[in-house]
Amino acid sequence: MSNIVDLCKRVALIPLTAVTENPNYKYQKIALALKNTDDFPAIAAEFQIPETLLREQFDAGFDIPSYRFKRDGAFFKWLVDNKATFKGMSWLDVGADFGCVSAYISAIIESTDMKLCDIAIRPKHNFEIRQFDGKSLDYEDKSFDIVLFSFVLHHASSSTIQLLKDARRISRKHMFVLEDPKETAQDDIWGYYHDKSGVFRSLKEWRSLFDLLGFDIAAEQALSPEVHSRHFFHLVRRDDS
Ligand SMILES: C[S@@+](CC[C@H](N)C(=O)[O-])C[C@H]1O[C@@H](n2cnc3c(N)ncnc32)[C@H](O)[C@@H]1O
Repeated sequence: MSNIVDLCKRVALIPLTAVTENPNYKYQKIALALKNTDDFPAIAAEFQIPETLLREQFDAGFDIPSYRFKRDGAFFKWLVDNKATFKGMSWLDVGADFGCVSAYISAIIESTDMKLCDIAIRPKHNFEIRQFDGKSLDYEDKSFDIVLFSFVLHHASSSTIQLLKDARRISRKHMFVLEDPKETAQDDIWGYYHDKSGVFRSLKEWRSLFDLLGFDIAAEQALSPEVHSRHFFHLVRRDDS
């Protein structure tokens, strides 16, 4: 029954988006508001995350797990499938916002060894978050197993390359990047409305940039293409690959 209701809600959203030809964030927000929480048990089971954590994030207003795991499920599933590699590792979450992604990663890889930073700090959030200038990462060389950028780099615009150089310096080996690539006409429109001063790049350009900066792509995967393209990269420092 809930599947039929969900389908009806989704169908109702199509003309809204089509009329304006603007897959703007506000329409995503309508979709989010229409979501329910019936699928928390299924998400918890599939992604090895306690249902209580999903509920906490939702109740605190930090996240909408039904949307997050539908959208970025391929990333979290990949992490579950590769848990043996990443179990117990440390990470830096750059542009952590509420810290939800780190809360989920923490549950999956069974580690609380993390640091979070962002250019702006929310009044309420998960974990301690350090405010920084968004231009460079002044952490010690090789101080984290993983550096994570989850839908952040396009906002960094002209600081993106410096952040990636720093990420390579401070990571012992891994980097996870989730991005909104510029691949389709919808992506062009979405990027424009999402952040007018952001820099959105094609997958080809991201791959070239990672290569130029000394990363090998160990894995990459398209995430849910609802409204616009999304992509996940697992990068490895070239000297360690
Ligand atoms: C779309 S949110 C993503 C939040 C979180 N990483 C996630 O996936 O849920 C983008 C975040 O990037 C942060 N941000 C914007 N510019 C940044 C920069 N130059 N360096 C670090 N974070 C930045 C914003 O403050 C915001 O928290």
